[in-house]
Amino acid sequence: MKHKTIEISYSEYSSISELSEGDVELIKKARDAAKNAWAPYSGFHVGSALLLDNGKVVTGNNQENAAYPSGICAERVALFAANANYPRDRVVTIAISAYNKKGLVAQPVSPCGSCRQAILESEERYGIPFRLILDGAKSIIIVAGIKNLLPLSFNKDSL
Ligand code: THU
Repeated sequence: MKHKTIEISYSEYSSISELSEGDVELIKKARDAAKNAWAPYSGFHVGSALLLDNGKVVTGNNQENAAYPSGICAERVALFAANANYPRDRVVTIAISAYNKKGLVAQPVSPCGSCRQAILESEERYGIPFRLILDGAKSIIIVAGIKNLLPLSFNKDSL
């Protein structure tokens, strides 16, 4: 038996003012997108903004449904829209912001398991990891690629 350890890495910032102008702009677009979420059941409004390598930004927000499992997260709304409309342009960075009943969440929201899997597929499709900016009022986390959040993943090599 071998015991193995996988390390993940990320950077944490205590204020948005520590980020580059481009990252701040992307966060603002994710925050704006959250305002258009359809989230009457959870009251949890999530926005995501993707910067593509053609310079375009594609946004999305969570879309809930009275039949709960038919809803979809903000990250996949934006990611699938980007991959569908700009199939040749890889994602460079994704920013994710969320609001609960009190306002912008204090601690950053990290993508759910299904979104991590969809993000991994998109990274592998274009062959380059993309940065994730997880926005929160008291902490912002930047991760260099989804493998930090999805170690030992299921991917095309598993088939
Ligand atoms: N949600 C997202 O859109 N993204 C996440 O990263 C976490 C959860 C949505 C799904 C559902 O509409 C609501 O937030 C509560 O889970």
